[in-house]
Amino acid sequence: MGVSGKACVVLMFVCFAGLAYCGVSEKIVNVLDFGAKTDPKVQSTEAFMHAWQAACKSKEQARLVVPKGQFLVSSMFFAGPCLTPGPITIQVEGTILASTDPSDYVNADWLIFQELSGFKLIGGGTFDAQGKSMWPHTFDCDYRPFSDCVRLPSTFQFNTVKDGVIENITLANAMGLDVYAMRSKNITLNSVKLTAPSDSPNNENIRIEDCSNVVISQTTIQHGKDCVSVVKPATNLAPLTRSKCTSFD
Ligand SMILES: *[C@@H]1O[C@H](CO)[C@@H](O)[C@H](O)[C@H]1NC(C)=O
Ligand SMILES: *[C@@H]1O[C@H](CO)[C@@H](O)[C@H](O)[C@H]1NC(C)=O
Repeated sequence: MGVSGKACVVLMFVCFAGLAYCGVSEKIVNVLDFGAKTDPKVQSTEAFMHAWQAACKSKEQARLVVPKGQFLVSSMFFAGPCLTPGPITIQVEGTILASTDPSDYVNADWLIFQELSGFKLIGGGTFDAQGKSMWPHTFDCDYRPFSDCVRLPSTFQFNTVKDGVIENITLANAMGLDVYAMRSKNITLNSVKLTAPSDSPNNENIRIEDCSNVVISQTTIQHGKDCVSVVKPATNLAPLTRSKCTSFD
């Protein structure tokens, strides 16, 4: 009795310690379970949106997982507010490809993150906007009359996002901007790689408009001239810390 009683107490202690280590349990929502296909020719937009709803409406912590493989999607809204108690996580390990049909972009941008408070985008994966077919339609807004100036879809639009971390991902071949952040607060881009061939026409990569506390660190920008532009007065903008901006011009 004495010995087994002690063993039980030890076991219980291990259990509690384990729980404390693991923190709160997290609901994992995998896009494959919602019908997404690892096929670069088959649209998975609806599956992604249903999976997002399941994660965002979860009352426990939730993580949307995009596993390895190639997925094709058109324009999508990752809209909040979410019910998760803490930040919602999107973990992308594979490659997400943008549809190359211009009529898919009536919402102006490719992936729109909106009204999120606490948000993480991680996983080592790639967002490939496949912009090549759109590039010939780029008008340089600096030299064209305003009405004639067409903004091509950004890879990411952050609109009213608060406390966001975007880390360890690659944005490739943006149609227009890589990142367009507006009306957002406390956004960190860390170890983000922006890449496109040297003949891509995009001059500007990240546009920050009406934001505060935007930190960009260890981020590599392999194309573009302006790299980061701040449109409206933004406060507390940390400089591009330890970031490289390589221009081909
Ligand atoms: C980036 O993500 C990959 C894949 O999940 C992971 O193996 C790697 O450790 C991550 N790197 C960093 C710096 O977090
Ligand atoms: C900024 O966002 C990060 C990541 O969500 C969070 O940990 C941090 O507390 C936020 N900072 C402020 C001042 O709210």
